[in-house]
Amino acid sequence: QIIDGKATAAEIKKEIAEEVEHIVAGGGKRPHLAAVLIGHDGGSETYVHNKVLACEACGFQSTLIRYEDDVTEEELLACVDRLNNDTDVDGFIIQLPLPAHINKQRIIERIDYRKDVDGFHPVNVGRLAIGLPCYISATPLGILTLMRRYGIKTSGKKCVILGRSNIVGKPMSQLMMQKHYGDTTVTVCHSHSANLEEECRQADILIAAIGKPEFVKADMVKEGAVVIDVGTTRVPDPTRKSGFRLCGDVRFDEVASKCSYITPVPGGVGPMTICMLMLNTLAAGKKAYYD
Ligand code: GUN
Repeated sequence: QIIDGKATAAEIKKEIAEEVEHIVAGGGKRPHLAAVLIGHDGGSETYVHNKVLACEACGFQSTLIRYEDDVTEEELLACVDRLNNDTDVDGFIIQLPLPAHINKQRIIERIDYRKDVDGFHPVNVGRLAIGLPCYISATPLGILTLMRRYGIKTSGKKCVILGRSNIVGKPMSQLMMQKHYGDTTVTVCHSHSANLEEECRQADILIAAIGKPEFVKADMVKEGAVVIDVGTTRVPDPTRKSGFRLCGDVRFDEVASKCSYITPVPGGVGPMTICMLMLNTLAAGKKAYYD
């Protein structure tokens, strides 16, 4: 079965919009997300544009703040301070990647963790690790939500994650390990893993997040496995208006027939990511995790 992330995301955004109207009807405040975009990277422009559109669909207020590539670290830190102190802003994100002269970690750690709807601040990362309520990074949360909505049983299964990034691999491994989330036995593979292909073949659930187009081939997948493709590499394609197409980490054409469930690229995990940011923003508006 092909997992339809686009349809699932649309469903969830509709549920969020209904809840927002309920909150507003009861005299409550519309959730407000601010996004900071630095420079003109094509991918970041598209993501942030889609985040603003998703806010509209959910009935949120949104604010877009732009800086040029030559913004200084001090200017960005001052912007973070302003957003931290703006009582109307419930949550905000600094779109990554940042220019090389900016210390990313210093910016992230300056964000008030109570407004960190990306779930990148060490307080949120740490709270996730010990199973406390917190903002969870959108891509891992989106993957878990897809599996739940499709009724995929995870408890006790063997889960292999390809990639150990801070945004996907690491938080995904936490979620898949924990009792009240995935409750699976987790193996994290990366560029220096020995026997990576053999590890993959053992997986009941294989989550590919290494950013290498078509890395996962049919002979690396167990019959009946659930395969989640997080890859979104832009590869040149002159037949497209944009000049590129998105390519996943999995050879969909040869892997799909072996799987019980598989996510396509595009239309699988991608649409869920922004949707989970909306869910985190709703939680921020409701002060669900922190006062
Ligand atoms: N760049 C790529 N993915 C993300 C994300 O989830 N959040 C932010 N802030 N930047 C990103």
